[in-house]
Amino acid sequence: MAKADPVEYTFDVNGLDLYYDQTQALKDISMKIQKNQITALIGPSGCGKSTFIKTLNRMNDWIEGCHVTGQILFEGKDIFKEVDSLALRYRVGMVFQQPTPFPKSVFENVAYGPRIQGISNKKELEEIVEQSLRQAACWDEMKDRLHQSALGLSGGQQQRLCIARTLAARPSVILMDEPTSALDPISTQKIEDLALELKEKYTIVIVTHSMQQARRISDKTAFFLLGELLEFNDTIEMFTNPSNPKTEEYITGRFG
Ligand SMILES: Nc1ncnc2c1ncn2[C@@H]1O[C@H](COP(=O)(O)OP(=O)(O)OP(=O)(O)O)[C@@H](O)[C@H]1O
Ligand SMILES: [Mg+2]
Repeated sequence: MAKADPVEYTFDVNGLDLYYDQTQALKDISMKIQKNQITALIGPSGCGKSTFIKTLNRMNDWIEGCHVTGQILFEGKDIFKEVDSLALRYRVGMVFQQPTPFPKSVFENVAYGPRIQGISNKKELEEIVEQSLRQAACWDEMKDRLHQSALGLSGGQQQRLCIARTLAARPSVILMDEPTSALDPISTQKIEDLALELKEKYTIVIVTHSMQQARRISDKTAFFLLGELLEFNDTIEMFTNPSNPKTEEYITGRFG
């Protein structure tokens, strides 16, 4: 199969199969994820969305009994053969459904990645923290409480802090697994606006159960069902003219 142009496509997934022990959770997934776009992953519970998104930065490596076959190229390199998994996770950051700040100050949450990457100069760290908080649209809210515990922030603020923490590690991709499902509508809107801003610089892959969210923010949508990628298309096309009847049933709310 011809390799996708790594300048245009951040990920090029070819024939990916994933098993948890004997149970196959992803079946022959092939898709190209375009740079500086938002790709939404949708589908009913248990269809493999989280499994797929976690494979993109090899977070499944930690799960005993999980094994994959097939190929994923990230910026042209095979993530299983040519890329160190730790380095991969800096370049491909992840934001989860529940905000997961560390029980540390706002500052230390954001400085965590850069510190691990070897940056210890105070001024440099301060610059990275400020820049990352600004990019994640939380500088104004947090600049006066940088040294207070992140656990004192609201859920929506915590989620944006986690995005700032991800950005501080200088990724090129941000994976988001249902990042707004624990948030109120206003915080949700802030994260959606943020995603739209961030795609100028980053590639974003987002799992969502909200069809409205997929429509509002994504360029491409991938519909998963029972471990298979049933349909993958421009979001507008998929929502106005789905090619598979199962996609239509799902997006119109008739199942799942
Ligand atoms: N660590 C694991 N060990 C064994 N099976 C797993 C593991 N994680 C997920 N699975 C199974 O893989 C399948 C896909 O799960 P996954 O979490 O990827 O679904 P999902 O689409 O993200 O669902 P949801 O919308 O509920 O989050 C399910 O059948 C699930 O039970
Ligand atoms: Mg999931």
